[in-house]
Amino acid sequence: MRAHHPSAPFCPGRRPRGTNGAPAGTFCPCGGGVAGSSVDARNEEDIVSAIELGDREHRVLVAAGSAAPSIHNTQPWRFVATPRAIEVHADPARGLGVIDPSARALVISCGAAVLNLRVALAFLGRRARVRWLPSPAVPTHLATVEVVGARSTRAIDRELYGALRRRSSSRQPMTSRPVPARLMSQLREAVRREGATLHVLSGEDADTLITIAHQADAAQRGDRAYLAELGRWTTADPARRDGVPASAFGAAPGPEQAPQRDFTQGGVAVDRQEEAFEAAPMLAVVTTSADTVGDWLRAGMALQHLLLVATTHWLRAGFLTQPLELPAFRDQVRGLIDPRRMPQVVLRVGYGRTPPRSPRRPLDELLSPAEPSGPMP
Ligand SMILES: Cc1cc2nc3c(=O)[nH]c(=O)nc-3n(C[C@H](O)[C@H](O)[C@H](O)COP(=O)(O)O)c2cc1C
Repeated sequence: MRAHHPSAPFCPGRRPRGTNGAPAGTFCPCGGGVAGSSVDARNEEDIVSAIELGDREHRVLVAAGSAAPSIHNTQPWRFVATPRAIEVHADPARGLGVIDPSARALVISCGAAVLNLRVALAFLGRRARVRWLPSPAVPTHLATVEVVGARSTRAIDRELYGALRRRSSSRQPMTSRPVPARLMSQLREAVRREGATLHVLSGEDADTLITIAHQADAAQRGDRAYLAELGRWTTADPARRDGVPASAFGAAPGPEQAPQRDFTQGGVAVDRQEEAFEAAPMLAVVTTSADTVGDWLRAGMALQHLLLVATTHWLRAGFLTQPLELPAFRDQVRGLIDPRRMPQVVLRVGYGRTPPRSPRRPLDELLSPAEPSGPMP
């Protein structure tokens, strides 16, 4: 990670504050800014302290990152904190070998965490830049979110930050109240801004997607490895801080309705009440142009940007990704939407009850300080 530039004459990176001896007008690529004679030592110190991240801010940021949704609530991430950045690392030990052998859903989950970090930095009054896959030799280092300056916090930053703290996945019926077209355009725009596309399905196409989802769901239920994996990531233990808790399993839809993943199949016995789900659900699919790790990260950012905008408008969203977890069914979804695009996430969007929260791992488990850097050459 490039948190510090020994060769750059002005880099507040790790130097003691106020001791910078840079010649006037030189520039450090880490975003430290231009060192010029107009900045006296005291102002410089103020600027640095306004930009640098301390322990409290690191904890706010990691809490925000880990509030992101993740497949089966695996929380497959680790964060490394430095004074000018948060690194996001994948934790492959939390991968789902059965439903996600390529780690696509794991990377999407981490992409959602990156979006949350960007939102939280804006809330904290920092301008941020995301560097994707910054360490080619370390493929699990997915992103570094760097502070590149200060900014004032806007109302939208506060709203999105509030949304990331209150968002949770819905597995309950939505009401029949339609989502206004203007709001759908905002969701589309949120996805587009992250480099992905949102496809909204209705009528026959929505019915076809539900049929494909039912077939995929049935195939998974008949797979013992799938059920064993589900068993490892579902829990009735209120002390457990990961996995999907019984309190969040949601309701069971009727046989004709969009199939919610049945988490009781993992072996946790709860009385999952059958309820009438919406007859014409609003289904939305996030797609990307290709299927690389970069596309998955983009998809995660787009997904989370959509979910946060939705949450600010009191919309609920739930996932329906079973058909994307088996290649034959994913191909069918692709054919239905656009064969040139790669479907990454299927969502059900609408108005409804407040979904319960799922737990998160303690911050100390997720946060590591940066490796101490060696002496300068
Ligand atoms: C890539 C991805 C796929 C998901 N697929 C499903 C799914 O098929 N069914 C479901 O009920 N939840 C799904 N989820 C939601 C997670 O289970 C949920 O985010 C996690 O349990 C944490 O809960 P929360 O979102 O309420 O914070 C998915 C999440 C992600 C990021």
